Amino acid sequence: MSNQHSINIVPNNGDMAVEARGLVKTFGDNRAVDGVDLNVRAGSIYGVLGPNGAGKTTTIRMLATLLRPDGGSASIFGHDVVKEPQIVRQLIGVTGQYASVDESLSATENLIIFSRLLGLSRTEARRKASELLEEFGLTEAAKRPLKNFSGGMRRRLDLAASLIAQPPLIFLDEPTTGLDPRTRNQMWDTIRRLVKSGSTVLLTTQYLQEADELADRIAVIDRGHVVAEGTVNELKESVGTSSLHLNIENLQHMQDARLIVDRVLKVESAVSAEGGKVLAPMADADRVADVLIALREAGIQLAEFSVQKPTLDEVFLTITGHGVEGDAAKASDKSEQEREVRV
Ligand SMILES: Nc1ncnc2c1ncn2[C@@H]1O[C@H](COP(=O)(O)OP(=O)(O)OP(=O)(O)O)[C@@H](O)[C@H]1O
Ligand SMILES: [Mg+2]
Repeated sequence: MSNQHSINIVPNNGDMAVEARGLVKTFGDNRAVDGVDLNVRAGSIYGVLGPNGAGKTTTIRMLATLLRPDGGSASIFGHDVVKEPQIVRQLIGVTGQYASVDESLSATENLIIFSRLLGLSRTEARRKASELLEEFGLTEAAKRPLKNFSGGMRRRLDLAASLIAQPPLIFLDEPTTGLDPRTRNQMWDTIRRLVKSGSTVLLTTQYLQEADELADRIAVIDRGHVVAEGTVNELKESVGTSSLHLNIENLQHMQDARLIVDRVLKVESAVSAEGGKVLAPMADADRVADVLIALREAGIQLAEFSVQKPTLDEVFLTITGHGVEGDAAKASDKSEQEREVRV
């Protein structure tokens, strides 16, 4: 691998890839980003998690020097995004920036062009292109023109193109939104490998599972504010309950099972998104025995049960209150133990 084209600007601050203080961006009277602080340690994967319109893309665009902040400050490896944008741009890669690749050219040809633009020799460019296509599972499609690519293939080529320069910090704005599960998993593997090879990744996602799978630390952002920050485990612990998951053998018993769970644990249980599972918050894992005995007495058989830390879905709903809004007042009357969590 040639190093002669790699970044020759020494990061000012080896430790922190991103430091943002009180970042603000307003559009008219909409404070899209309203005082965001972020600290991303070099060599880590940092997840910014939030629903549509939370301010994720706007935050990334300010950090990537694509949008000027209206307030606050941010630096990338110690370089101020407003005062030293040229330097910052050489330290970062942003997916999406190569959207205007040539549709009639093949994937290989596109990657070779980008490599040549970045100063790689013809031989290096060809090797880099084939390396990246292999890495992203696009070898078979290498010779096909881009106009025949699926959305997932384009996304992967886009990420591949942004990696030619091997930037120390990579911004991935919703890297897997709309991808099928298999392609999503490939993307996750690629992101993990990037970080193993020394890059820092800041990614945004609406997928709680994605943040859970990938991120060392997470900021939960809602309406322009960071509403929670920490490791996945810290966030889960902040919810303060464990979670009982019951797979009911016979789906016709679901309703009865929920009634029993609710009565014994004095909670309101929920049914998992994919159905077939009763989920209930628990303050005290010891109570699980009472539930199992009550279910057996009612003749309800379980296929499986587990007591888990809360999922990020549960964490998010607990922190932001979204999705439980109709029940918010009711929930606040309840004790910690009886907290309502919907999935
Ligand atoms: N260029 C713009 N002009 C005006 N308003 C904007 C602009 N960009 C974003 N906004 C508004 O700022 C808010 C935050 O948008 P942003 O795109 O940062 O959210 P997001 O978290 O990335 O959402 P999504 O998950 O849908 O991508 C939204 O209310 C959006 O409508
Ligand atoms: Mg966005």
